[in-house]
Amino acid sequence: MDVQWYPGHMTKTVRQMQEDVRLVDIVIEILDARVPVSSRNPDIDRIAAGKSRLVLLNKADLADEAENKAWQLRFERELGGAMLLDARKRIDKKKLIGMIQSACAEKIARDRAKGMKERPIRAMVCGIPNVGKSTFINSFAGRAIAKTGNKPGVTRGKQWIRLDTKIELLDTPGLLWPKFEDRIVGENLALIGSINDQILPQDELAMLLITRLCSAYPGVIGDRFGIDEKAEDVIPLAGQSEESARALTILEAVGQKRGCLVKGGGIDYSRASAIMLDEFRSGNLGRITLEKADA
Ligand code: G4P
Repeated sequence: MDVQWYPGHMTKTVRQMQEDVRLVDIVIEILDARVPVSSRNPDIDRIAAGKSRLVLLNKADLADEAENKAWQLRFERELGGAMLLDARKRIDKKKLIGMIQSACAEKIARDRAKGMKERPIRAMVCGIPNVGKSTFINSFAGRAIAKTGNKPGVTRGKQWIRLDTKIELLDTPGLLWPKFEDRIVGENLALIGSINDQILPQDELAMLLITRLCSAYPGVIGDRFGIDEKAEDVIPLAGQSEESARALTILEAVGQKRGCLVKGGGIDYSRASAIMLDEFRSGNLGRITLEKADA
């Protein structure tokens, strides 16, 4: 599967992100909890060098609970702070502000020791497209919070949202890019629907999903659609792998069950594929994580 990206926009995005990161004390990185590795920018450690860090595993409501915990521990170990989140819901502001403060504790102590006047911690949110950056900023900042105006000097042109007296958040999130060249990353982002559907063949994607779920979450597809997901008696056609033959048989069974038929009674593969992908993305197949924390 060949994923087409949009590298044309990258130069501007990189420059903007590098400029903005200079203005802040802490970089809050939002990842998609279903694909924490694939939704991570490969250059973030370089871009955010010297800054305090916090990872938010967003869309945790759609991801496997045991994996959520495992990923949270892993990021805590590797970066210092991590929190699970459903950005569409009310956010526990107190907890998050506490985490930001503790992530910045060393820096605050250093500034104090140098006799510097204490000023609010400045934070920025960043992440690849679709991880929930805007949703997070909206629910974290809430309506009651007034935006601060332009400030003289370095922050000219930037809008800051005052979260409490101690923390200010840059109101525009930093847009990062995924690891373009990695096929698995492309597949994972396509599966969760964060890459434009038109650039990938839907039926191939649906079959890939079927194969991945049958292996990592056996029984989920069978239970949801009331079909035999083992498809043990499948006979591959010439040039077709057994895996692919099985996935196709399952896709056909899904189509049959959901009435996706074309004139003459054959399966409407594109509708069956769309249903398969939609059931996964909307959480109807249950909470699923495509990347395991211990892998
Ligand atoms: P971005 O700024 O990083 O590009 O992402 P954005 O906030 O636009 O969110 C992308 C999509 O993800 C939105 O759905 C949003 O509602 C959804 N979303 C954000 N956070 C969460 C979360 O924690 N859990 C779940 N389940 N969904 C989340 P959309 O379909 O594009 O828009 P809408 O139909 O919700 O309006």
